[in-house]
Amino acid sequence: MAAIELENVDKFYRWDTRRQPAANNITLSVGQGEFVFLIGGSGAGKSTLLHLMTGGIRPERGTVRLYGQDYAKMSEKRRQAAALMFGYVWQEPQLMKRRTVFENIYLTALVGEHKCRNATVRERVQKVLGLTGMTQYAAMRPEELSLGQCRRVELSRALVNNPSILILDEITSNLDPDNVWDITFLLDEIHRQGTTIIMATHSRSIVNIMRRRVITLVNGEVIGDVRRGRYGDIV
Ligand SMILES: Nc1ncnc2c1ncn2[C@@H]1O[C@H](COP(=O)(O)OP(=O)(O)O)[C@@H](O)[C@H]1O
Ligand SMILES: [Mg+2]
Repeated sequence: MAAIELENVDKFYRWDTRRQPAANNITLSVGQGEFVFLIGGSGAGKSTLLHLMTGGIRPERGTVRLYGQDYAKMSEKRRQAAALMFGYVWQEPQLMKRRTVFENIYLTALVGEHKCRNATVRERVQKVLGLTGMTQYAAMRPEELSLGQCRRVELSRALVNNPSILILDEITSNLDPDNVWDITFLLDEIHRQGTTIIMATHSRSIVNIMRRRVITLVNGEVIGDVRRGRYGDIV
């Protein structure tokens, strides 16, 4: 079964013209365990598509399904369970400034407590901090860290509830190359362990080295969907 399916999905924001919706008749399916890059210029609809996939926004037309279940028909309880299947890092930094790194992750870990019973909340936080190389920064606050370190904290938080699907929106933007490659290799490792990864990016070099599925958006429309693609491949 597909992890996520979209069928004839349109999304308009209030001031979109008819010619340039944020999502335009999108039909696609992402299988469990896939690694997908979403590429396209600024305003192409990458973030919108990610939010549609997580059920965070609703389409004006069409259907979005998570493991076969239509978001529009989910009960509130199902919707909460669905949210726990995802780990997210959104484009805008989302860390709580006044909390330590540890607390930022701990609060998310608490939400997944009943789902991840194999380890305590504290153990899970320590494990993801180890995975991203941030253990020694646990007691610091985000404003004391570099952008690259903040991104790792956000990634740790996204992973702490063992998500089936990881949603990443331009996580490597504005990072220096060392940080970009560290994060990319880490994602590759996480993917090898079975996590589905859907990642919006502007990074030509990451896309070209990884050679995964590449979905290209222009004006909210999917104009390319290539297995083992390169940046700019549309067929
Ligand atoms: N919250 C919003 N309100 C109004 N318009 C939006 C909103 N989010 C995105 N848009 C518009 O939708 C289109 C797609 O945006 P977005 O999905 O953010 O693209 P990308 O992530 O590829 O830069 C753009 O024209 C953008 O201006
Ligand atoms: Mg975006």
